[in-house]
Amino acid sequence: MRIHDNILNLISLEGKTAIVTGTASGIGSAVAIRLAEAGADIALFDIDKHKGPQIEEDIRQLGNKAKFYACDVSVRSDCQNAVDGVSKDFGNLDILVNNAGVITRKDIVQLSEEEWDHVLRVNLKSVYQLSHLVIPRMVQNGGGSIVNIGSGWGIKGGPNAVAYCASKGGVVNLTRAMAIDHGEQGVRVNCVCPGDVHTELLEREAAQMHQDIGEFLAEASDRPIPRVGSPDDVANAVLFLTCQLSSWVTGSIFVVDGGGLA
Ligand SMILES: NC(=O)c1ccc[n+]([C@@H]2O[C@H](COP(=O)([O-])OP(=O)(O)OC[C@H]3O[C@@H](n4cnc5c(N)ncnc54)[C@H](O)[C@@H]3O)[C@@H](O)[C@H]2O)c1
Repeated sequence: MRIHDNILNLISLEGKTAIVTGTASGIGSAVAIRLAEAGADIALFDIDKHKGPQIEEDIRQLGNKAKFYACDVSVRSDCQNAVDGVSKDFGNLDILVNNAGVITRKDIVQLSEEEWDHVLRVNLKSVYQLSHLVIPRMVQNGGGSIVNIGSGWGIKGGPNAVAYCASKGGVVNLTRAMAIDHGEQGVRVNCVCPGDVHTELLEREAAQMHQDIGEFLAEASDRPIPRVGSPDDVANAVLFLTCQLSSWVTGSIFVVDGGGLA
């Protein structure tokens, strides 16, 4: 028994260039590596100039082209410069994974206007900024695939996270709207909504809630598949949505949460 070539061809991302945002940590770094393992060249966008280049080296070790771009995805000029850099350095542009995100665990009375603006700019406006720049280049290449990382809290609400819930709800419906507009041009747009995944973001959340991380993880494991997710659990879903296995999938909201929302 062997895996047949037609399946490998459907999974393969060879010859494709993928932009992944928020790659210096957690889910973004796992996505960058998984897409590289499937053959894609990777443009890494992150605000963290220290950790960002480390993953670039890991991907080069796999034999793929990789380049880190210091980019604050909430700043238009950074997005423009980084996307122009990718076009110059890689040529084609086939995949965009809008993953960079932040969370502030506050209710609406506690939350300042600056905190609201920051979360909305990083989590939601960035999806507009990058998609606005990237879609015309994808269309020029004959199409592409965009995956937005939402959250279970983009589908249902959660406590003390108003800006985060609003931003992720926006990401979910923005995904559907973009899918409707760009399907005929060959651009598929989907959203992956993870449940609790053990990353630095989750550890920061526990700290913001003044909760011990062990206790936080134990509570977060209370779901039909009783554990928190790993970044690879999410990366595998992103791979499916970027490769040809999902060629008729667009506008979908793919929940990856061990059954938590169920
Ligand atoms: N971890 C979870 O439990 C969980 C659950 C649901 C959804 N998500 C979503 O998954 C995505 C990734 O989260 P994670 O858990 O890997 O977080 P993380 O904090 O581990 O990583 C986020 C990355 O984004 C980068 N980043 C932050 N602000 C940025 C900006 N302005 N410009 C560019 N890069 C920026 C950070 O430097 C970091 O490398 C986020 O959108 C998050 O909302 C995470």
